[in-house]
Amino acid sequence: MSAPLTATAIAHPNIALVKYWGKRDVAENLPAVGSLSLTLDAIRSRTRVRFEPGRKGDHVLLDGREDQAAALRVSACLDLLREAAGVTHGALVDTDNDFPTAAGLASSASGFAALVTAAAAALGLRLPLHELCRMARIGSGSAPRSLFGGFVLLQPSPDGDVGVEPLLAPDSWPLRVIIAITAAGPKAMGSRAGMAASRDTSPFYSEWLRSHPADLRAGRRCVEARDFPALAELAEASCLKMHAVMLATRPPLIYWSPATLACLQVVQALRRDGVPVFFTIDAGPQLKAVCEPAAAATVHEALAAVPGVVRLIDSGLGPGAHCIDD
Ligand code: PMV
Repeated sequence: MSAPLTATAIAHPNIALVKYWGKRDVAENLPAVGSLSLTLDAIRSRTRVRFEPGRKGDHVLLDGREDQAAALRVSACLDLLREAAGVTHGALVDTDNDFPTAAGLASSASGFAALVTAAAAALGLRLPLHELCRMARIGSGSAPRSLFGGFVLLQPSPDGDVGVEPLLAPDSWPLRVIIAITAAGPKAMGSRAGMAASRDTSPFYSEWLRSHPADLRAGRRCVEARDFPALAELAEASCLKMHAVMLATRPPLIYWSPATLACLQVVQALRRDGVPVFFTIDAGPQLKAVCEPAAAATVHEALAAVPGVVRLIDSGLGPGAHCIDD
């Protein structure tokens, strides 16, 4: 059967509980450290890819607009898929996010996971998962995690690549994630440039690399044991350690807004009062509060009352990237 040349895929953003920051190999976009994440269900990227025989170059629409910077990264990813399929067709790529793009909500992770899933289907490729992971990683270091649902571990493998391992399915430990959006604009510095600056200038970067494998091992243990209190402490420590590296970068990478810090303090106060919730924050001003299902309404209400919170997204854990009918 010939390849359909067109396919559409959905992928959900993922949120890291043990963070990744830094590249081991910039050209290959290999992360310097592993990470542990959970995939969300409430927000998604949807990407339609249409290859056209005879077409030169790719045309990329992101949220309905042409985007030159995104197009370069998309083409680098599609080149790998074209090579695997032995074709040279250019592609029309139409991708939309139902949440703010490039604002610390992992839109590049879901976007590139959806892209490689759709492109592989369009080209009729049945790739081993590690190949699909490698292709997604060229687009975004955290994208391989969005190929899978639930809790996902990404770790450096002995051959120098990274391996991705789904740890728990979404319904095996159905935690909730309340995302407090404190500013919807794009972030001041993208994570690629930020990571390079941290590697070159942050005095804490080497300690981050040294101490990370132990955090990752502890993260795996917490998830496998479904140990919420231990995961809460570890995830907050990993998040703050990453932000300490960022803050000590020159010029400093300060991704928080005053409302981010206010949300953080609300989450800390809730936990002191016995509510099972913890926070995590990425390269942007949004705070993600992870909680047990019974605490979700309390957490939502408390974050909604924080001045500067413009919107809340309540999410469960979601599935990995998958194709949908065109
Ligand atoms: O996927 P990238 O390469 O843009 O990196 C994102 C890194 C953080 O979101 C800040 C942390 C993480 O592990 O997701």
